[in-house]
Amino acid sequence: MKHLVITGGTDGIGAALARQRLALGDAVTVIGRDEAKGAALAALGARFIPADLSLVAEHLRVTDLLASRPIDALVLCARYFRSHRHETPDGFEACFALEYLSRFQLSHGLLDALEAAPAPVVVNVSGPGAPKPEIRWDDLAFRRGYSGMEAQFHAGRANDLLGLAFAAEHPAARTRYTLVNPGGVASSFAGEYDPATAAMVEHMKRTARPVTAAVPPLSALIDDPPAEPLTAWANGRPVDPRTTPRDDEEAARLHRLTERLLRAAVE
Ligand SMILES: NC(=O)c1ccc[n+]([C@@H]2O[C@H](COP(=O)([O-])OP(=O)(O)OC[C@H]3O[C@@H](n4cnc5c(N)ncnc54)[C@H](OP(=O)(O)O)[C@@H]3O)[C@@H](O)[C@H]2O)c1
Repeated sequence: MKHLVITGGTDGIGAALARQRLALGDAVTVIGRDEAKGAALAALGARFIPADLSLVAEHLRVTDLLASRPIDALVLCARYFRSHRHETPDGFEACFALEYLSRFQLSHGLLDALEAAPAPVVVNVSGPGAPKPEIRWDDLAFRRGYSGMEAQFHAGRANDLLGLAFAAEHPAARTRYTLVNPGGVASSFAGEYDPATAAMVEHMKRTARPVTAAVPPLSALIDDPPAEPLTAWANGRPVDPRTTPRDDEEAARLHRLTERLLRAAVE
């Protein structure tokens, strides 16, 4: 029996994975905000931890709650789209906070619990293999030229670099880091959409593959983590986790900058 921790486990791909693994007899902890969806998974046997993962302080509480039990797989799925820019109480742009900073805090913050498992893996479900913008070194808060799509792709780039930095920062770790782009599936697409984007999302919900199609490749990585410290996959095929020759340098730079931002947020 494995212990999985799934952020965004209350809906979409995360919930589909949670249901499958509960049916197989695994222990599953899901993290999300929606109490009713959390209760539905708890009724199937999951542990539900309600938390707003766009907030830095929540990660201290959540990592404390999770520290004492080995984690075989940390699966990072939480996302929320916003057509209009939103700032968290910590002063971060909300997509950057939820889709990158949260994953940074949980990946590094739960390493001891991961290392206590026999074959641990972090599965960061994001967007490797897709073209992405450069990191906005001078405007991580997207004060200029915000668009919801751009913010999502920017967080995707930051997650690619998170994978590289995680492997570089923890060279002796047994924990494998894997970035997974599931391809388009009809998830809940949680978010606040302007009318044009809402119409596009409704079309995707009608035409994309069912959300359960994203589960088998994730389950395979959990059952048999890759031998390499860092891997990336798009639509079930391996892709290079590096997309530019500068990636290792940029990963180290973003890692240092993120540590500074998080330190400042808790001071
Ligand atoms: N769906 C696709 O076609 C697709 C394509 C490529 C990549 N992906 C990636 O796959 C992953 C999963 O996507 P999905 O489409 O399955 O997601 P989704 O259906 O939109 O579900 C999002 C999840 O995130 C949680 N969430 C949102 N805001 C949160 C917050 N502030 N704190 C904690 N949890 C929060 C939601 O839970 P609550 O409602 O309980 O808050 C929900 O469980 C994402 O990383 C996404 O980028 C998806």
